[in-house]
Parts: sequence; structure tokens; C-alpha cells
Amino acid sequence: MKHLLLFTLAACFIITIAAAQNTVVIDAGAAKDTISKNIYGHFAEHLGHCIYDGFYVGTNSSIPNKNGVRLDVIEALRKLKIPVLRWPGGCFADTYHWKDAIGPEDKRKPIENVTWGNIREDNSFGTNEFLDMCELLGADPYLAVNVGGGTVQEAAEWVQYVNHANGTGYLTDMRKQNGRSTPWHVKYWGVGNESWDCGGHMDADYYVNEFKKYATFMTSYGNSEGLFRIAVGPGSEDYKWTETVMSKIPLRMIDGLSVHHYSVINWSNKGSATAFSEAEYFKTMSEAWRLDNFITRNSAVMDKYDPERKVALVVDEWGGWYNVEPGTNPAFLYQQSSMRDAMIAGLSLNIFNNHCERVRMANLAQTINVLQSVILTNKEKIVLTPTYHVMEMYNVHQNAVMLPLKITSNDYVLNGQKLTAISASASRDKNGAVHISLVNIDAGKEQTITVTLGGIAATTVTGRILKSAHLQDHNTFEQPNTVTPVPFSGVRLNGQQLTVTLPPFSVAVLELK
Ligand code: AHR
Repeated sequence: MKHLLLFTLAACFIITIAAAQNTVVIDAGAAKDTISKNIYGHFAEHLGHCIYDGFYVGTNSSIPNKNGVRLDVIEALRKLKIPVLRWPGGCFADTYHWKDAIGPEDKRKPIENVTWGNIREDNSFGTNEFLDMCELLGADPYLAVNVGGGTVQEAAEWVQYVNHANGTGYLTDMRKQNGRSTPWHVKYWGVGNESWDCGGHMDADYYVNEFKKYATFMTSYGNSEGLFRIAVGPGSEDYKWTETVMSKIPLRMIDGLSVHHYSVINWSNKGSATAFSEAEYFKTMSEAWRLDNFITRNSAVMDKYDPERKVALVVDEWGGWYNVEPGTNPAFLYQQSSMRDAMIAGLSLNIFNNHCERVRMANLAQTINVLQSVILTNKEKIVLTPTYHVMEMYNVHQNAVMLPLKITSNDYVLNGQKLTAISASASRDKNGAVHISLVNIDAGKEQTITVTLGGIAATTVTGRILKSAHLQDHNTFEQPNTVTPVPFSGVRLNGQQLTVTLPPFSVAVLELK
């Protein structure tokens, strides 16, 4: 009898383990924060073929262009609803002198790009070209100011050149001579980049003083919204830097704190972008999940000094970073983008959405031909990466109200190590449609998820999914459609409950009406 009882208990235990269930419980009644569209921002640096041959081919190119900017790129980025674009760096920003790159092309000053490969930078793409391009894209520009190698005067004059409508000085005259009478009203300004490293190897106290000096002289010239000044934050778990910046810069001077987070398996050998093992994939996913804690810890420090959350956390560089493609210039950071990157994107965007009370901008690094790109180009050819498709599927969350949710997830287990397998975020848009984005990072197992729709009255559900046969799958110039989203049939709606079955390593976005 005793044996029978033990056997029954053991059997129940085994059945419970086997039937372990993923749950997502949405509480729409508790919604209060909006997912800023700027979480879906991008970053473009004068690095490799991001600007030249990526965005910009020049007006004499046979590749169809508008003012030198590729039309195919404009079309693709408009479909993403690109909200904001950061430029000109990155590390390049702290070597950049904007006056070298304005006015007639033959009068511009070529420089050596000492940050990225010592190649000649002819400065044919400068401030006017960038800001006009942002208008074409319908994106807000975000300019990164040279703090490390520049001067306060240079920064103040840049603001004056682009923003001062009726200035009485030579900078406004110069803008008009360069063909632009009305200002661009640039709102977002980064004061330096990685000032603890390539931006000047400063310590936090020194940087704080630099920031205050720059912020004082960068004025808004009648732009009623004023400038949105973004200070340099940490790029690793250096919360002391955050503490120093937040405690020593008066809140009236700072609007954002920039942090950087790359998913890298090993900085001294980052591995191939396409020929990788499941163990490497697992490590990349654990680095991507680290972003959640990184944001939580930085936000906690910010909450101490800014309890009303006036200052935005701006993750203005994020994404996967691998070794460059064989045979390409190591300084150009050109890499392919596979399903692994789609998983980084889905997971990271869910993390940003769920932290939208503090994270109000993020910029994927980088838009074209560099790191985790959404677009790759080769002469007249263009290819959209799996990451592009995730950004496009998720753009329904832009400016929608975030619906809080609680997740209970199975583990993704490999070699005795565990990661949370499921990630999700949800929002309600201005027309009342609810969108739920779901990610299963488990490389080997499908996951069934029960979603409880608290406070949501829906009668229909539709969706799209990004999935593929192999983690390493990616799109090439020869086969551009290997990975593209398809309609999703693995979802059932039953009253207040959804049952969703996600294949291994897949990203789905559902729409409920
Ligand atoms: O995105 C590439 C580089 O990574 C950026 O220039 C720099 O800010 C970061 O270290």
C-alpha cells in the first residue's frame, strides 16, 4: 500500500513536470505608461559602409536616389516607421568637426577617419545631408556632439546653425547660403559618446563638469520644446557612473541618460555571425537577457534622484556583435544577421516595452551594413535582415499604451544551464487594437503559452510569426526571402483566454480586436 502511494505521488510529480505551463497574465486595467515610438529608433555612424554605399550613394550614382540617398533604403525604413536616427557616431562623434562637412562639396575638408580604419572621409555627407534625409524618412534626428575632441563653442555653434530661425550672426547666414532658410529644429542632442572610453577616457566627475559646461551653452533658440540633452551613462554594470551623473547634474539640465548594451559572447573572439553552435546561441541569449537587469539597476539609481522619472533612459546602442564577415575590413564591423539576431531583437524590444516608464528611446546598432543591421547593401542590391522583420512586426507598439503583464515561463536548458524561455509584451493602440508580442528563445522545444486577457474584450485574433528551420538561417543577396514573416496559425481565442503554440526560436506578434 505504502509503495502504491509513493508510486502514485511520483507519477503525479512527473506528470506535473511534463505539463509545466507557460502563462502570461495581462492586466489591462493597470495600464498607465506609453511605449514611446522612439524605442524603435536606429543609429547610423560614419563607419564602414553604413553611410557611404549604405544610406548615401551621392547624386551622380546610377542607383536611384533622392539627393544622394538611396530610394530603396528610404522605402524600407519608412515601412519600419523609423522614429529617430542617431548620428554621426558612436566613437566617430568625438572626432567629428561639423564645419568640415557643410557648404559646396568641393570646398569640404576631407579627413582621415581615425576611429574606423583610417580611411579617407570626404565629408560629402554632412549636417545638411543628414538632416534633409531625416525629413525624407520622417524620422527625428538625434545628433551626438563632439565632447572628447571638440569644443563647447563648436557644439554651441552647431545648435545655432541647425536651430536658430532668425539669427543675426554668420551661422544663420551660412545655413541660408547652404540652401536651407528654415531651421530643422533638432530636439535630441547627445553630449558625448562613451566618454569613459573612446570619448575621452574620462572619469565620471570630470564628465559631469564637461556635461554641465556643454549643456549651459547649447541653448534652444526659441524652439518651444527646448533641447533634449542626453548625458553619457555606462556601457557595462558600472552603476557608480550612473550614480555620479544623476546625483551631480541638476535635473533642469539633463533630459536623458544614454546606456549601451551589446550581446557579445566573448569580446576577444566574438564568433561567426552565421556559423555558430547552440552553445554560442545560448550565451548570446543570456547576454540579451542581461539587458533586463541592466535597465532595472540603472532605473533604480535614477529613481533615487529623479523619482518623477523626468529623465529618460536612452539605450542608444544595442544589438548583437560578432566577428566581421570573412574577407571584409575588420574596422568596418560588417556582419550578417541571422535568426539569432531576430531573437535578440524580439527579446530586447519586449524588455524595452515593459520598461517604458523609464526607457523612452533606444537605437539599434547600426542601421545598414554595420553590426546588427536591418538592411544590407551591395552596389544596387539590398536585402532586409530577420531583424528588419522583427522591427517591422513590432512597430504596432509605437506610441501605444503598455499593458502590464506577468509571465511564468519554462526554462530553456542547455548543458545544465537555464534561461527563461518566454518573453512577452503587450499594448493597446489609439484605435483600441491590442498587440501582444511573444518570443520563444528555446532552440529545441516549442512552447505552449496560456495568455489571460485581463480587461481585454476581443472577438478576433490574427498574427504573424518569424521562424525558420535553422537558427543560422539568414537572408542573402541571392536568396533575400529565406526568413520573412508569415501568417500565424498557432493561436486560439477562447473568451478571456488565448492558447498560443510557438515553435522553437520564433517571434510572433498577435493582434486582438
Ligand atoms: O557601434 C560601434 C561602436 O560601439 C560605437 O562607435 C561605440 O559607441 C561603441 O563602442
